[in-house]
Amino acid sequence: MTEFEMIAKTFQGLEEILAKELIDLGANGVAIGNRMVSFKGDKALMYKANFHLRTAIRILKPFLHFKADSADDVYEICRKVDWEKYMDLSDSFAVDSVVYSEDFRHSKFVAYRVKDAIADYFRDKYGKRPNVSVANPDLTFHIHISHDDCSLSLDSSGESLHKRGYRQEAMEAPLNEVLAAGMILMSGWDGKCDFVDPMCGSGTIPIEAALIAKNMAPGLFRSSFAFEKWKDFDRDLFEEIYNDDSQERDFEFTIRGYDKDPKAILTAKRNAKAAGLLDTIRFEQRDFKDFEPVKQRTVIITNPPYGERLVEDNLLGLYEMIGERLKHALIGGEAWIISYHYECFDKIGLKPSAKIPLFNGALPCELRKYEIFDGRYNDFRGGDRRLKKDDLPTRRSSTLRHKARLAEKQEAKEADKPLRKTDERKPFRKADDHKPFRKAEGGKPFHKSDGKKPLRKNESGAKPFRKSEGGAKPFRKTDKKPFRNNRK
Ligand SMILES: C[S@@+](CC[C@H](N)C(=O)[O-])C[C@H]1O[C@@H](n2cnc3c(N)ncnc32)[C@H](O)[C@@H]1O
Repeated sequence: MTEFEMIAKTFQGLEEILAKELIDLGANGVAIGNRMVSFKGDKALMYKANFHLRTAIRILKPFLHFKADSADDVYEICRKVDWEKYMDLSDSFAVDSVVYSEDFRHSKFVAYRVKDAIADYFRDKYGKRPNVSVANPDLTFHIHISHDDCSLSLDSSGESLHKRGYRQEAMEAPLNEVLAAGMILMSGWDGKCDFVDPMCGSGTIPIEAALIAKNMAPGLFRSSFAFEKWKDFDRDLFEEIYNDDSQERDFEFTIRGYDKDPKAILTAKRNAKAAGLLDTIRFEQRDFKDFEPVKQRTVIITNPPYGERLVEDNLLGLYEMIGERLKHALIGGEAWIISYHYECFDKIGLKPSAKIPLFNGALPCELRKYEIFDGRYNDFRGGDRRLKKDDLPTRRSSTLRHKARLAEKQEAKEADKPLRKTDERKPFRKADDHKPFRKAEGGKPFHKSDGKKPLRKNESGAKPFRKSEGGAKPFRKTDKKPFRNNRK
């Protein structure tokens, strides 16, 4: 099959882990960019990328690169594209745009001009224009402009790939599935020991962990991908990829999810049930302060409240308790904690062995790694859990910190401001549209809101794919029914 160029988009901080996923999937020419990874592959790889990647939010297929320095230029070039290669008059379409250019101040205007070009192409030929649909288009085109470099792409994913399809309900402040999976992959946890999220909320981290442990594709529960509406959709090929469970594996350890809120546990169970993982994950209502010492090696990955969206009466006290529990109950294990305020990390009172800058939505956060030794430090380092010098998270952390420092230097230069001293207690980055870590005031919570919102509905509205909770596999080869009929 012919190879072509593709772009996998992701969140800032997850680019390297996404590149690794792509290489493992067989992609060629993998190159890391800002919140994206470019790669080459054939149609099968495009289907696999959508179906298997855990840390991509969408896969674009560029089909035209050109130079332009005005929206009118873009229109003229787009008028000459043979749009019927991609869509028919009866198809609805949408255009989205990302613009980094002085010449194009309004990215929406560029998108309008591309829409005009497509509409005029069809009107000239058939006297009619195709419908534009924002909510549910048959095809989405994407225009990306950097200075005067323009690229037109087809969006092969449709809804963001973080919408796996298993989420029935969310508690307040659920972690994005792509971020959760990225954190687990960065930790190196691959199902070879026990796993706990002691503050699991709606269960995103344990569910993503179970998918990783069993090597199940995150796309199994999606009702559709945009490429299924493309003119060249190869149904047999996708069916083959969808039905291939040869890489799935058994998981022999335990994954547990705790939360002090009974509603969270109920929600987590519903979500896990929709993913057919209720037998794999043990959810229990429990306060982290009652976390009992682990009996075998355990990895904790967790997303405690930051006091931003979730109200917490004694936020700093919570982090103090987390530190105390880790120190006494996680001997020989490691914990990965994502949080927003340096003061919270300080309260944990343990020395992190890695600090990885990550964005949780618009919040510049950090994922910190804590290794809990039992005093026999040398024994621990000598085992198969030996810390490696080229440990990915550590490398990633310093790289990003370096990049952030360079960006900050540039920013300071532009603003003609003195550069602040490197200070562990200050934020790594100060992207203009993001708030830095904030100072706690007298141990008060950081939250702005004053109450919890009601449970939210499943964002995709998609039905759970699997009904059984007995770890039943989704529709497979052996089923007599037609491909994915049971998802409708
Ligand atoms: C930011 S939310 C976690 C969101 C979760 N990762 C998700 O995707 O839904 C933090 C969770 O910590 C829980 N929590 C707060 N204090 C706790 C404690 N002492 N013990 C256990 N859970 C706690 C809250 O109930 C809340 O569900």
